[in-house]
Amino acid sequence: MDLQLSGRVAVVTGASKGIGLAITRTLLEEGVRVVAASRKGNADLDTLAGENLVHVPVDLMDPEAPGQVVARAVEVFGGLDILVNNAGGPPPGVQLPRMSFMTPTDDDWREMFEFNLFSTVRAIRAAIPLMLERGGGAIVNISSGSARQPAPMNVDYNAAKAGMNNLTKALSEEFGPQGIRVNTVSPGPVLTAWWTKEGGAADIIAGMAGTDRDSVMASVAPEMMKLTTGRLVDPQEIADVVALLVSPRSASTTGAEFAVDSGFLKAV
Ligand SMILES: NC(=O)c1ccc[n+]([C@@H]2O[C@H](COP(=O)([O-])OP(=O)(O)OC[C@H]3O[C@@H](n4cnc5c(N)ncnc54)[C@H](OP(=O)(O)O)[C@@H]3O)[C@@H](O)[C@H]2O)c1
Repeated sequence: MDLQLSGRVAVVTGASKGIGLAITRTLLEEGVRVVAASRKGNADLDTLAGENLVHVPVDLMDPEAPGQVVARAVEVFGGLDILVNNAGGPPPGVQLPRMSFMTPTDDDWREMFEFNLFSTVRAIRAAIPLMLERGGGAIVNISSGSARQPAPMNVDYNAAKAGMNNLTKALSEEFGPQGIRVNTVSPGPVLTAWWTKEGGAADIIAGMAGTDRDSVMASVAPEMMKLTTGRLVDPQEIADVVALLVSPRSASTTGAEFAVDSGFLKAV
């Protein structure tokens, strides 16, 4: 299927690792020109280097940063058609899961909302006038299944992502008539550094369950989270859905949420 994306311009946040890296690679393969934002570049991003990729090193905790990233799309590629708000998860220096509502302080809540919701709000605020100039655009916000199915852990993260789901719908209503589509993709647990790195989620759960990191990823986490497929999600499986959603082939899809979650959500 031709996704009709060749020559379009995208901003992808959190583009150097995990889901964002897979999204960046997939969009480049479809001929999209990509502005990739993360604090640092790395060898994985370097493998994608070429005339269609620009890396912008920014810390999205800085309120000015989302607007600067969007502005780079205009400077380098002349406009903006696609925005993927992917950066999120534990703010810099934070390890999740945190197991109780009583754990995060006011500062923790603020940081969580800055990273997962406010940076998205700021990027969208900068992107919308540019998309309107081009007669429309597509925005995808990467949320989480835990926005809909909260558990007694990561309460601040879940609340920020629930806010993102609500924001997506509101934006789709306001700007749909002007050609901007806004959708959410909600991953379940995905095999990225968040889980796999030293001291990451798999290590924390392994410590609680008295097992090791590999066992957590292979069986403990899928069982604990009642994943229907029995395995964690591959980042490429998120990227493929994002590519379809930002494509004109999805012209009638807006205000929608797509779960790519191994069957994590059980509600109808
Ligand atoms: N992995 C999961 O299980 C899972 C589940 C549900 C939802 N999600 C959502 O999926 C999205 C991506 O998660 P992921 O697991 O792919 O993350 P990841 O592998 O940890 O990658 C995070 C990306 O964001 C960048 N980043 C981190 N802090 C940043 C900052 N302050 N400013 C700019 N960039 C920053 C990182 O690069 P630098 O470190 O160089 O900045 C990296 O490119 C997040 O929104 C997350 O909430 C993930």
